[in-house]
Amino acid sequence: EKIVIGVDIGGTAIKVGICSIEGELLHTYEGPTGVEHGSDAVCQNIADYAKLIVEQSSFEWEQVEGVGVGIAGFIDMAQGIVKFSPNLHFRNVPLKTILEEKLGRKVLVNNDANVAALGEAWAGAGRGIADCVCYTLGTGVGGGVIINGRIVEGSRGMAGELGHMSIVPDLEAIQCGCGKMGCLETVSSATGIIRMAKDAVERGDRTSLSFEPNIMAKEVFDAAKAGDEVAIRIVNRAAFYLGKSLAAVAVVLNPQRFIIGGGVSKAGEFLFEQIREVFQKMTPEIAQEGVEIVPAILGNNAGIVGAAGLIIRS
Ligand code: BGC
Ligand code: NA
Ligand code: ZN
Repeated sequence: EKIVIGVDIGGTAIKVGICSIEGELLHTYEGPTGVEHGSDAVCQNIADYAKLIVEQSSFEWEQVEGVGVGIAGFIDMAQGIVKFSPNLHFRNVPLKTILEEKLGRKVLVNNDANVAALGEAWAGAGRGIADCVCYTLGTGVGGGVIINGRIVEGSRGMAGELGHMSIVPDLEAIQCGCGKMGCLETVSSATGIIRMAKDAVERGDRTSLSFEPNIMAKEVFDAAKAGDEVAIRIVNRAAFYLGKSLAAVAVVLNPQRFIIGGGVSKAGEFLFEQIREVFQKMTPEIAQEGVEIVPAILGNNAGIVGAAGLIIRS
């Protein structure tokens, strides 16, 4: 009996899962990413966790068919090289080669949001749908485009980097981790929402939000739901640019479904209503027909399942 390992590498944690060859998730394990120790240490952690999860299970390493990896950043999928990852501080890390040497198995590397999209399309909110576009709202804003059930990678692997869609007008734009101004990620990620809250507090705006070092995006949403005007303005802004980016994508790809996941999407209908409103206002009527905007359903496991899917469906 063959098994496949799926790995989802985020800024704080590495999640590993064992999947059956049918894509059923059988075991999961999670450990710290260790970004602060550099990319060599992160690669070693990935290999260690993969070995460990198999040891802890009733399976043997011999049964492992391959290892699929999703990692934040701009990836050259053909070569399995992480060209640039702003949030993980990776530059030109040949992840596929490193892991194949450490693990002795076929390794496929793709973008974290692409594999989460594949997971959702395969076993989550996009099940049975050929064309969908996913956003993951977390530390960054990730994107994944699925057409005919497959990840769209683009000519050099950079397709689906929706977080770096330049969308905020110049006068209001700030610099993104990618180096450019006005990216969606600067306003619609958890990081962006927190930054806007801190700015408001620093400016002395009247708000129930306080300037704690560990303020979370959830607190901004809670304050907005409770009627805090400043928090409402921040959430409106995050939702406005998201909705605007959906409108832009809709006229390029006409997907059947937009799937929105990641920590920020837990704000629920409060956020989704605003996104839908902006989308409806900005997209030609005919291009909206049949287009749905729904929350992701696999939550934390979408990345692992999709990463395993890279191997199973290759
Ligand atoms: C990165 C993407 C990634 C996203 C979510 C962005 O900053 O450029 O590659 O998918 O964050 O992690
Ligand atoms: Na992507
Ligand atoms: Zn950017």
